[in-house]
Amino acid sequence: MPNKSLRILFVSSEAAPYAKTGGLADVTGSLPAALKALGVDVRQVLPYYRSIREKGFPIQSLDEQVDAPVGAGTLKAWLFETTTDAGIPVYFVDRLDFFDRPQLYGEGSRDYGDNLERFSFFCHAARRLPEVIKWRPHLIHCHDWQTGLLPALHKGARGQGASSDRPKSVFTIHNIGYPGLFPQDRFGVTGLSRDDFFNSRGLEYYGWISLLKSGIVFSDAVTTVSPTYAREIQTPEYGMGMDGILRQRQARLYGILNGADYEVWDPGKDPHIAQTYDPDDMTGKRACKQALIQEMGLDSNRENRPLLAMISRFDSQKGLDLFLAIMDALLQMDVGVVVLGAGDGHVEWSIQEGFRRHPGRGAVYIGFHDALAHRIMAGADMLLVPSRYEPCGLTQIYALKYGTVPVVRGTGGLEDTVQSYAPATGEGNGFKFYPYDAQALFGAVREAVAVYYRSDAWGRLMTNGMGADFSWEVSAQRYLDVYASVLDPSAPRVSTP
Ligand code: ADP
Ligand code: GLC
Repeated sequence: MPNKSLRILFVSSEAAPYAKTGGLADVTGSLPAALKALGVDVRQVLPYYRSIREKGFPIQSLDEQVDAPVGAGTLKAWLFETTTDAGIPVYFVDRLDFFDRPQLYGEGSRDYGDNLERFSFFCHAARRLPEVIKWRPHLIHCHDWQTGLLPALHKGARGQGASSDRPKSVFTIHNIGYPGLFPQDRFGVTGLSRDDFFNSRGLEYYGWISLLKSGIVFSDAVTTVSPTYAREIQTPEYGMGMDGILRQRQARLYGILNGADYEVWDPGKDPHIAQTYDPDDMTGKRACKQALIQEMGLDSNRENRPLLAMISRFDSQKGLDLFLAIMDALLQMDVGVVVLGAGDGHVEWSIQEGFRRHPGRGAVYIGFHDALAHRIMAGADMLLVPSRYEPCGLTQIYALKYGTVPVVRGTGGLEDTVQSYAPATGEGNGFKFYPYDAQALFGAVREAVAVYYRSDAWGRLMTNGMGADFSWEVSAQRYLDVYASVLDPSAPRVSTP
């Protein structure tokens, strides 16, 4: 099918710039535009959260409602629409009692107790959307557990005789660590037949309902966000209990590296930073470092020392325990450290305490602050990403573009995007360690700090990183290949692992 006539509906629980808690939003906010550039008719649908309503986007009501079953009853969803700067139509599913809340998924460390209802409702409404907008997608592209019910709903519809015009589905796993688990006695909420769907070939996961498993099992193809993670999740170590079903789906499991949106993440035109810069003129980077040191309240003598940064959700995935274990040693090494993040309360407290022990050398901003993320990306010398696992990771990809050298654990997309610096040849774009262990992280940081003081070598490292191209073109084409193979199973199989 030529791309021009291909209609794809993206269904996700977040997308930049409307709603974002992490990298999922970056991907669902930028991949549609890359697909559109390849000629695809792509649209997307999101929940209408309070934060979207408050941001003042030009959003209009469709003056239409759809009925969405939730358990034994039916609830009404109101529909809204807007168009992105890239010209993508975006629809919002609204229901105040589900989405008019301070956060997307929960508050503090507690998920909202009715997330099964909220995201089942969203999936049912998204399924009905095409009738209302009179635009029938060939394929729906679902992302993570919040949308995992949708492929099963389509299979259910097929059982009820709607096979010929059912859209195909592709399900992308952004993070297998969030399986979307709910107690099995609430299965009725999903609207699926328990006899047909709550079993080991369906949504059942060790006695629980797993919406992520639903997406994996019932979609026509599964993708994840880097080739290495696609391999890792088929192993017990990284598969979080899903490795068996993923191995069963191996023939239709693809690892496609995320791209970066260089319209948003480019030091040459970033509106958030003190001074723009590019590989030919790096004076702006120095100004960004000075400005960041001032903004974060570090001693001005940090300007001549390496400035290390972390921008991260404080989640067990992200290796904060390793960071905490080396924090004192790190600050005694005479470097500056800035951290931006939020999440686990103990981690928040420990980082604040750690910096209090070394005044002027380190600072943390607890919270979500998009503009500050850009300023740190530009002002720091190194970005630490010591993840326990990392499906793709976008911060290290952005760091490369900003001439901020990544120091990462070699797992998932970190392994695929960072090449260790080789002093003999000057090749490589960062520093990597492998064992999940604080000493290994410390060793990699020490190595990076030593190279930092050799300005020729460091300059080469920065230039190597800034020259790398992780834009979406290549990966968007790979998604197109996956869509094509799903829509026409006789088409040659794509070669992504
Ligand atoms: P993940 O999706 O697992 O959180 P990624 O590296 O893929 O990890 O994406 C993280 C995204 O969220 C990046 O765009 C990063 O800049 C952003 N981010 C993470 N924490 C914060 C924060 N506290 N404030 C602003 N942006 C953040
Ligand atoms: C997830 C992963 C991260 C990935 C992002 C976007 O949140 O943790 O590694 O980059 O999704 O795919």
